[in-house]
Amino acid sequence: METVRFETDLSLFKYDNLEQLPPHYRGLEENERSERIEAAFDALGDDVVVLGHNYQRREIIEHADCIGDSYQLSKWAAESDAKYVIFGGVTFMAESADIITDDDQTVILPSMEASCPMAGMAEALQVDAAWAEITAETDERIIPITYMNSYADLKAFCAEQGGLVCTSSNASCAFEYAFEKGDKILFLPDKHLGENTAYQLGMEDEIVEWDPWDPESKDASKAVENDVILWDGYCQVHERFRVEHIEQIRADHPDVNVIVHPECRREVVEAADEAGSTARICETVEEADPGDTWAVGTEIHLTHHLQRWHPEVKVLPLCGEACMDCNAMRQIDPNYLTWILEELVEGRERNVIEVAPAEKELARVALNRMLEI
Ligand code: 13P
Ligand code: SF4
Repeated sequence: METVRFETDLSLFKYDNLEQLPPHYRGLEENERSERIEAAFDALGDDVVVLGHNYQRREIIEHADCIGDSYQLSKWAAESDAKYVIFGGVTFMAESADIITDDDQTVILPSMEASCPMAGMAEALQVDAAWAEITAETDERIIPITYMNSYADLKAFCAEQGGLVCTSSNASCAFEYAFEKGDKILFLPDKHLGENTAYQLGMEDEIVEWDPWDPESKDASKAVENDVILWDGYCQVHERFRVEHIEQIRADHPDVNVIVHPECRREVVEAADEAGSTARICETVEEADPGDTWAVGTEIHLTHHLQRWHPEVKVLPLCGEACMDCNAMRQIDPNYLTWILEELVEGRERNVIEVAPAEKELARVALNRMLEI
């Protein structure tokens, strides 16, 4: 069989209208910056809404109208009448907001360098080629499911092939939907979320990984002997958590409860007390009794926010402060927020995220299928 080679740029930065922060916005002092942001809000009034993902820095969260997980934020964007939706998050989240907001709303990502590496691990073109290889080996129906952390063109691809989108809180429902419609699943791009979900549904013996970067090890005829084909993508932040971190924190704090994000490795999810989306992590700490101790296995900024928001609960980072910082989320700098807002006051739109119309329509189908499950 001929091997398809990808010479295409698996681009980290999806949009070519990326604009950099003008030099005079660099290094603004926090008080001055906050005053300027608030002055811009006063000038723009109801025309603007700022959404802050749970992983954003404190300086962004403090100015956000809504704080939540990727799915909640897109829904808020759609419910808002604001002309400008400024997304404190990463590219795929801003795209999802653009897909479900009205055409007269403009979605802005302050820094377009805020690109989630996991979303970049499954480019639609690359998936399309793998799809041709895999489907050629079976007459059974394969349903593609893509995690929300993917680009709009991949969501559109899934819609075209009868598939859908899922989030970390409804992946098992998406699996059930797929097995009603077909015989097998291709799960993209996060292999850990896919594996954790398959285990949850008792399908641990039905899993195979598909590594798109290793032409030697890919075998489509072997892949289709299994019901759950996992694309070999992962989150570089969550993959760093290890079972030893859980063992250590249990030894240091015998009364600790552990919650992790399902982007963590399966053995980590199994060793934890609970696993769930960032919204579920927030709810768990919110509902904890005063004096309880929770260790949180996710991006470090959320752990810090939770400790600030719930001083009655002891919130610990699962493996100290080291390395659990999402570099993509970090790109949304409060200086960028100041610049974007002041440009809007002057009538200039910067760093607009606009999904192409045909892609948008199909991606919306995949998102709507998720909403219906
Ligand atoms: P949530 O959808 O749980 O907010 O997660 C998004 C994400 O990027 C996790 O790494
Ligand atoms: Fe992407 Fe991981 Fe960052 Fe989430 S934490 S935005 S999955 S790199």
